[in-house]
Amino acid sequence: MESNDAVIAVNFKTYAEAVGPRSVALAKTCEAVAKETGFTIIAAPPLPDLASVAASVSIPVYSQHVDDVRQGSTTGHVTPENVAASGASGTLINHSERRMTIAHIESLVGRCRALGLSTIVCTNNIGVTRACAAFQPDFVAIEPPELIGGDVSVTTANPGIVSDSVGAAKAVSPGVRVLCGAGVKNGADVEKAVELGTDGVLLASGVVKATDPAKVLADLVSGLRR
Ligand code: G3P
Repeated sequence: MESNDAVIAVNFKTYAEAVGPRSVALAKTCEAVAKETGFTIIAAPPLPDLASVAASVSIPVYSQHVDDVRQGSTTGHVTPENVAASGASGTLINHSERRMTIAHIESLVGRCRALGLSTIVCTNNIGVTRACAAFQPDFVAIEPPELIGGDVSVTTANPGIVSDSVGAAKAVSPGVRVLCGAGVKNGADVEKAVELGTDGVLLASGVVKATDPAKVLADLVSGLRR
């Protein structure tokens, strides 16, 4: 579990900029900015790079996905036990690009908790935020799918979905922390996210595809300070 400070979570997705050794390099950049600024930056590399990234940095490393299948005769899946054994400290669950059923989300939050893995459950609207907050993950992350990968931050395009998600999550489970994501690019977007009641952001392209990810990360973190 991360400290209670606000966080910047970076999902590397499967971008070419973060494939193989590039994942380790990007995670090291995240680590350098985290050390320099004292803020928590979470790195979520592609699944095949999870163990090598986790072994290379001291910041929290999360899986991008986990499957609700048993250990054993379940080929081609990633179990919570696999994630824990890789050295990762948490996982995303139900990303818009890797949706799951509510029954699997609930099961996975419990399985991860039992293994000491933190969870960020992604949600696409306020109702799903409310439902998933009830499972008491560490975080829910509201990300309207239509804004993912775009240039307009959710905090600008739809601030209401962010503040209403915070309200809905806290009403159900006061301890659940809320992130927002989709189109987040800079410190001003992060500042707005915090103003709207979140504990930080989950983002991808703004960092992964940047020509200077360190500069972007430093700017993003500055939004947590303001
Ligand atoms: O998981 C983060 C994500 O879906 C948002 O992507 O590229 O809009 O920051 P992006």
